Amino acid sequence: MVCADPSPAILSQLPRDDRPIAVRASAEEVAGGRAALPAERYDAMLVKKVLHHVADVGAVISGLARLLRPGGRMLVVMLPLRITYPLFDVALAEFARHQPDPSGIADAMRAAGLDASLSHESFPLAFPCRAVPADGAQPLHVTAIGV
Ligand SMILES: C[S@@+](CC[C@H](N)C(=O)[O-])C[C@H]1O[C@@H](n2cnc3c(N)ncnc32)[C@H](O)[C@@H]1O
Repeated sequence: MVCADPSPAILSQLPRDDRPIAVRASAEEVAGGRAALPAERYDAMLVKKVLHHVADVGAVISGLARLLRPGGRMLVVMLPLRITYPLFDVALAEFARHQPDPSGIADAMRAAGLDASLSHESFPLAFPCRAVPADGAQPLHVTAIGV
């Protein structure tokens, strides 16, 4: 199993056993054949919460599709188009501005020669965090929930 990400901090979260092979590279580098990968073709590919970082999604999807074996599968998991986290309005708008249209991603997958279908799933997300009161009292434990 190959895990590619440009961030050493993210790659350092991989389990410390011999299953995942970490490759420090962006999606553009992998798709463009500029990353040192341990194999030429792959049975399955998970592209999870990444495409909002990519400027030319069509080029990346088609480059990644070329790395699939015949019959191989690509699963693209995207963030929601909008979030309701307890953030200030500018941050929420900035988030929304960067999310690609999922139907455009499905079209890019079809253009790359894949059969593509689109589905929407939702699940609750909890962020345990600590809020420290200004008066120095005991920290409050807060759980923020988003979907
Ligand atoms: C929301 S995190 C998702 C991390 C992981 N894929 C997951 O699902 O838990 C976004 C990730 O995209 C990575 N990233 C940023 N720019 C990227 C690019 N051009 N190509 C591929 N990954 C990128 C970041 O380093 C970060 O790890």
